[in-house]
Amino acid sequence: MLYQTIDLCKEYGKPPLAVLNQVNLNIPKGSLFGLLGPNGAGKTTLLSILTGITPKTSGQVLVNGVELEACIEEVRATTGVVPQDLALYPMLTAQDNLNFFADVLGLKGAKRTQNIDYAVTTTALNHHLNKKAQDFSGGLKRRLNIAIGLLNQPAVLFLDEPTVGIDPQTRRFILESIKSLNREGVTIIYTSHYMDEVQNLCNRVAIIDRGTILIQDEINQLLRHQGKNELRIHFSAQNAEKLVRQLPAFPHLTVADSHTLTVETSNPFTVIQAISEKLSAPENEVEYIAYGQQSLEALFLSLTGSDTRDNDAR
Ligand SMILES: Nc1ncnc2c1ncn2[C@@H]1O[C@H](COP(=O)(O)OP(=O)(O)OP(=O)(O)O)[C@@H](O)[C@H]1O
Ligand SMILES: [Mg+2]
Repeated sequence: MLYQTIDLCKEYGKPPLAVLNQVNLNIPKGSLFGLLGPNGAGKTTLLSILTGITPKTSGQVLVNGVELEACIEEVRATTGVVPQDLALYPMLTAQDNLNFFADVLGLKGAKRTQNIDYAVTTTALNHHLNKKAQDFSGGLKRRLNIAIGLLNQPAVLFLDEPTVGIDPQTRRFILESIKSLNREGVTIIYTSHYMDEVQNLCNRVAIIDRGTILIQDEINQLLRHQGKNELRIHFSAQNAEKLVRQLPAFPHLTVADSHTLTVETSNPFTVIQAISEKLSAPENEVEYIAYGQQSLEALFLSLTGSDTRDNDAR
């Protein structure tokens, strides 16, 4: 086990506001670990504590069995952090940004050249080095942000929502780069709001909400044990709301979104039979019908509820 937290708690301010409550997390070496949670759940705070940026209030953080405080220098030297908010200098070129952060890390000589090369190659920034960061697209800024996090050729890489505000091509490129880093042995700890992304990318996941870990396991195990089977009916038009009013009242029939109805069931054919007449009307524009385990998103919503967190008192 690379990282282990024991009853980790964090409070901010006065009067104290509990942001992490008794967090017990296990992150195995070599894993591609997804940390999922709604806004304000405590993901960034947890990452900041694990990387030694923010002090904890109580509990323990162990790295390879050693208290973080006792090995903080070694952890900093072998860990890369890609922060949620872009941490780069807009007025500087990409190359000057990399040079500056290499200086901050104290990199020198051949090691410096080699590490900058590694960061540039991994993020495919070779042809963009002389442009100012402020002139970069959103996707290139994210890639430069990742390159800066890779400058010490880390064994453990923390990425806090690295695919926010980018197009599908860049997202794909970033996800493939992360997978390939992990195949080379880098342990990845990754936070995101995108469930499909985490389901495809990560092999382990923890779901955190209001500072409490609700569940953690291998994704396959989670979906096998927790996930239920469901029938998904997807419409090319936004017909789910309209159709649900015409169907017989079914237990576990839900409008997942305006395009999708789901029915939790172990007998998909019985359900299809009962609704096929209404469903097959051409104006319904059924795009596809699928049956199988619930997605990670459905599991996430069933654990965390569908209320937005912006109205929380915290
Ligand atoms: N420095 C701080 N001082 C006081 N409260 C803070 C501080 N940093 C974070 N918080 C509060 O702690 C809670 C957790 O915040 P955090 O940024 O860790 O959540 P998050 O899961 O990363 O959210 P998001 O998905 O929006 O990035 C929030 O209620 C936030 O307002
Ligand atoms: Mg955050």
